[in-house]
Amino acid sequence: MPVHTIIEPFKIKSVEPIHWTTRQERERLLAAAAYNLFLLPADDVLIDLLTDSGTGAMSTRQWGAIMEGDESYAGSRSFDRLKRAVQGIFGYRHVIPTHQGRAAERILFHVMCKPGDVVPNNTHFDTTRANVEFTGAEAVDLPVAEGLHPSSSHPFKGNMDLAGLEALIVRAGRGRVPLVMLTVTNNSGGGQPVSMENARAVSAICRTYGIPLYFDACRYAENAYFIKLREPGYEAKTPRAIAQEMFALGDGCTMSAKKDGMANIGGFLCTNDDTLAQQEKDLLILTEGYPTYGGLAGRDLEAIAVGLEEALDEDYLRYRIVSTAYLGKHISDAGVPIVQPPGGHAIYLDARAFLPHVPPAEFPGVALADELYLEGGIRSVEIGTLMFAEAARMDLVRLAIPRRVYTQSHIDYVIEVILEVWRRREQIRGLRLTYQAPFLRHFTARFERESKVEG
Ligand code: F0G
Repeated sequence: MPVHTIIEPFKIKSVEPIHWTTRQERERLLAAAAYNLFLLPADDVLIDLLTDSGTGAMSTRQWGAIMEGDESYAGSRSFDRLKRAVQGIFGYRHVIPTHQGRAAERILFHVMCKPGDVVPNNTHFDTTRANVEFTGAEAVDLPVAEGLHPSSSHPFKGNMDLAGLEALIVRAGRGRVPLVMLTVTNNSGGGQPVSMENARAVSAICRTYGIPLYFDACRYAENAYFIKLREPGYEAKTPRAIAQEMFALGDGCTMSAKKDGMANIGGFLCTNDDTLAQQEKDLLILTEGYPTYGGLAGRDLEAIAVGLEEALDEDYLRYRIVSTAYLGKHISDAGVPIVQPPGGHAIYLDARAFLPHVPPAEFPGVALADELYLEGGIRSVEIGTLMFAEAARMDLVRLAIPRRVYTQSHIDYVIEVILEVWRRREQIRGLRLTYQAPFLRHFTARFERESKVEG
């Protein structure tokens, strides 16, 4: 029989121990963290699926490149390397490094948006929404209808609602829509990809109305690989060629290199507009740093330059997409409701369907994430009523898989823990919010339990 097992396409050179705790200890730790997993010490987490952002393992090539970092304040050779790598994939004229994605967002929206403006996106991520709103503009999510149904297995649930986009532009007036954003893959919408066809159509609408199109490109490599797997005509193309084709449809991008940049920190902002680039660089100098380092060390620029290429490697992408789907398949086969089909970087549990007896106002996603920690020391994150308040259309628990960090046996353990929580789901109770910050409240919110969980 032909061998068909897809294995991790790397061997491990350096290891980091993880720590077990007892259930009793976790009960105490969770109460001390006010039932918010962000407030736990990471050492008390066994398997950390809070995020795939900045948590990946770097390669030997990246560590090697780090030693070559040029730490010059101005004109760093490492910036030239980063710029070449970025332009080779993204193709935009100006590359502005930032310390992470949200710094690129802040600068972009600051120069482009004003109070009363409207920014459409397939679905804003939390920091993107907050940065739009911080300028006084309104952030509008326009996912396709399939994207709001966790059980629908449409291949491109990350797509933008084209009729909705056009209607919004007409309603608001072109002058109030400074840019359109397309998030690839659509993180808040379940890690779902955007098709080339949809990106092309969004781009055409933007051209018709003279509105710039920017990509939120964090997971561009995973999106490109989904296009290769699912979109007719792209089977024989490389993920790199697919990414190049997509970015050519836009005028710029924001990027968090902590995702498909395969780095632990970093990001960048790209644009083809010379005037905007100048304003962006002026702002960059004010808070991030000189435009050839933008708040990063030269060695970080090197790690990102290598990481952007590694993220497009087909062996890596095959393993990445297949190993995420492996987790999704094993729990959904047992009846656990998840967002279908599995996303690229994460599996999303549908907490409203998992805990139908807990109303959204009692934070079913937070309650479920807490149970996964209590049961097996697993940390996940709620994407729902806590994160987005009344804008939340689903209550999801995201299990994000750090890149190149956990092996299949770690994932087998995660599956066992989820199935155990599924078995006793009826005993899980909701939570009451006791503290919230004025924005991005999920990071620091505090809770009390509605009533004690038995068993
Ligand atoms: N856009 C998307 C789609 C994201 O997922 C993130 C971060 C950002 C922008 C902001 O980038 O963190 O470098 O400032 N997402 C992380 C996550 C935090 O856990 O999904 P950043």
